[in-house]
Amino acid sequence: MSQTARLSLQGKEVELPLVVGTENEVGIDISKLRSETGAVTLDVGYKNTGATTSAITYLDGEKGILRHRGYSIEDLAGKSSFLEVAYLLINGKLPNKQELAEWENDIRRHTLVNEDMQNIFKSWPTGSHPMGQLTAMISSLSSFYPSSLNPNRTSEAQGRTIKRLIAKMPTIVAMIYKKSIGHPVIYPNNNLDYVDNFMNMTFKHVTEDYIQDPVVNEAMNKLLILHADHEQNCSASTVRIVGSSHANLYACISAGIAALWGPLHGGANQKVLEMLNSIKDDGGNAAKFIEKAKDKDDPFRLMGFGHRVYKNYDPRAKIIKKSCDDILNKMGVNDPILEIAKKLEEAALADDYFVERKLFPNVDFYSGIIYRAIGFPVEMFTVLFAMGRLPGWIAQWKEMREENQAIGRPRQIYTGEPARPFVPLDQR
Ligand code: CMC
Repeated sequence: MSQTARLSLQGKEVELPLVVGTENEVGIDISKLRSETGAVTLDVGYKNTGATTSAITYLDGEKGILRHRGYSIEDLAGKSSFLEVAYLLINGKLPNKQELAEWENDIRRHTLVNEDMQNIFKSWPTGSHPMGQLTAMISSLSSFYPSSLNPNRTSEAQGRTIKRLIAKMPTIVAMIYKKSIGHPVIYPNNNLDYVDNFMNMTFKHVTEDYIQDPVVNEAMNKLLILHADHEQNCSASTVRIVGSSHANLYACISAGIAALWGPLHGGANQKVLEMLNSIKDDGGNAAKFIEKAKDKDDPFRLMGFGHRVYKNYDPRAKIIKKSCDDILNKMGVNDPILEIAKKLEEAALADDYFVERKLFPNVDFYSGIIYRAIGFPVEMFTVLFAMGRLPGWIAQWKEMREENQAIGRPRQIYTGEPARPFVPLDQR
């Protein structure tokens, strides 16, 4: 294959080098395009634009493949712990026993948050959305650790910030939940592992013992892994672009959380459950809602369906769908919402509109049913997605900074008014 692409522009020929990835995916390197031709490319929504090379995650949307650092999502979800996957994403290799023990111990030592963080809750009105609280709480960590503002710290100091973030995220998430129901905060217990600690902080009552359920904790571990990274999506790209200005890591992750909040991205998991509930309340007629989703005059979309890159079944959704049945059975939960979800999926997959557009269930379609069975309110669903995605965002940020990538600054094609004289107020 030729190693260049040729572009003919207003009578001028330019050769553009090709970049070929590990799996033979081809990119046209246009970094010299503007200096050689004066033109820029235009690709609103970045549907055809690679923003970076990356060695973290490989995704083939046509074949439904997802791998982190070469390991399949099926293997990782079935055989590892969330902290192992976090180590893999951030450090590029699976930890050996000693490395894993050190990683877990280091993270355990940072689980407490400053007591003053509790004061922040006093200023929020009752019912504030947990995602808004999470962006603020994570961003506020930069005030408690001001040394993180220095972009040129040693890698050891940066490593400490990374461990702090991973350690404090479950503490903050559980705190948001406890504050939302008016219960006292449960402090971390560093004798417990990552997931057990999170479940304890979330569901233990201060007045009672909490008995861990291994089935539930296993499901939580799997859900966190399934959300851990997904290459250059809206939130990961946000983290990279904010980080490219050398903003501190807490601010970058807070920006990623804000991007995740939108209903077209991570916020879809809350919307899916609300949609399934409204279908149930409406009598359970899936076909009616399929018709609404197809109607271009109706803003309704089938939440949890479709994906920018998957034009095949999302492999994460496949794993979650299977787990959903298993977990609900093991927990003895009989949720009519699951039946509605299955009916809706069946009807959509048999409908020409969805078939032609290759719209399949995505990761968010079934995850909410498990979260609900575990006992989380819907407003917490996207926060749980953020907790899972944290190592992926960190890995994307670290890769970008280690390569000393330039500040992200897209161009535009200006379509506004040409230069015109200013009109004084009394003459307008
Ligand atoms: N329901 C009905 N129609 C849809 C849907 C849907 N969920 N998704 C896409 N379409 C249609 C869309 O109207 C368009 O039709 P047409 O070609 O006739 O104009 C076509 O399919 C292509 O859609 P698009 O909006 O151009 O695709 P996109 O790549 O820009 O958007 C998406 C991807 C995920 C934003 C979109 O599929 C969507 O809005 N899905 C529902 C929200 C959702 O579940 N989001 C979670 C994504 S997975 C978790 C994550 O990683 O964030």
